[in-house]
Amino acid sequence: MTVGIIGSGTMGSGIAQVAATAGCSVKVYDTSQEALTTSEDKLNEVLLRLIEKERIDDAEKNRIQGNISYVASIQDLADADLTIEAIIENLEVKQKVFRELEACQTKDAIIASNTSSLSIASIASALENPERVIGIHFFNPAPLMPLVEIIPAVQTSTTVKEKVVKIISDWKKVGVLAKDTPGFIVNRVARPFYGEALRIYEEGKADIPTIDNALKELGGFRMGPFELMDFIGHDVNYTVTETVFKEFYYDPRYKPSFTQKRLKEAGYLGRKTGNGFYDYKDGKIDKSRHPELDSGSHQDNLSQQILDRILVMLINEAADALFLNIATAKDIDLAMTKGVNYPKGLLTWANEKGMDWCVKKMDSLYNEYHEDRYRCSPLLRKMDKEGDRF
Ligand code: NAI
Repeated sequence: MTVGIIGSGTMGSGIAQVAATAGCSVKVYDTSQEALTTSEDKLNEVLLRLIEKERIDDAEKNRIQGNISYVASIQDLADADLTIEAIIENLEVKQKVFRELEACQTKDAIIASNTSSLSIASIASALENPERVIGIHFFNPAPLMPLVEIIPAVQTSTTVKEKVVKIISDWKKVGVLAKDTPGFIVNRVARPFYGEALRIYEEGKADIPTIDNALKELGGFRMGPFELMDFIGHDVNYTVTETVFKEFYYDPRYKPSFTQKRLKEAGYLGRKTGNGFYDYKDGKIDKSRHPELDSGSHQDNLSQQILDRILVMLINEAADALFLNIATAKDIDLAMTKGVNYPKGLLTWANEKGMDWCVKKMDSLYNEYHEDRYRCSPLLRKMDKEGDRF
């Protein structure tokens, strides 16, 4: 199979590596010659590192590189059976590129976008044959993260959907199907991990390391919310939150935080600028600016309260995604464990905690704040009443 990749930045380069490793003939196109050269050089470095770690041998490196060519014109992608676009996040630019591509390809070629925040329907609408368009959303770094969200638009044909599900599985990735709605699965369901942590901090209930440690030590998350926001970068993470908030017609559940907005405005973007919620020296976290609260029994209790509050908000979001048929229960759990390394699927977690626990916690938050942000999903309430499990 021939695969075209448009955009040879972070995502395009990673996706090209995945497809080439799976044995596809891959053609990578970018408007910037420099980006193409960088992509080729970086792949070489990545593969050399894999040889060092004895994950692949020289022959495998040559095979992967031999499967990829770098092309300077979009017309060179004319014979691609599937093309995945990973260029800047701008609807007009994407639509223009899709039209150029459609003009040089046959009707049955599949055209996909790796967009994180635009609707697939809006991108597809630019084409004469929009039924060939679908969303294929990888996670960064694409060669390492198993999850791929597959997003059929209203226009997408069943044949295209089925073909893409098979291709993603052939590429040894975990494909999940998601409705064409803001944030798809992961970027929607994960919002409270950041938002509720920020809210707890803003209310002065706990300091930053205490919140991070609660999620890591009691919750089993690999990184705390503040460490993770610093890692992702406040420009990127804040923008995702703001986009999801706007796209959901300003649903208060997704309201962004001033604390994070100020960091973004100040240019304190996290790890990449050396400062964010924490300071970073030589790329390492320096927590001296944030001495932790005293430890002790009060502290244990506080940590449990923090974890419970963030966890129940995550569970509520996952339950609501299921309630609104964004994806199946199985895919919602797979998305969070395979796309963002959660220690457990959120719906599985809800089963363990019990529906009554989830409903009581949500109702107690609602009673405290009287904000729509804390409304309990009707699905959790119904399941609690009926003694049901996910
Ligand atoms: P990037 O900035 O690393 O790379 C974009 C590349 O596209 C650049 O090399 C640029 O020269 C090229 N480009 C720009 N306009 C072009 C055009 N008209 N024709 C051909 N090439 C063009 O961006 P990144 O991070 O790889 O993101 C790409 C897409 O993937 C975006 O839609 C983004 O929302 C999405 N995405 C990003 C993730 C991330 O963590 N970075 C995760 C999942 C999706």
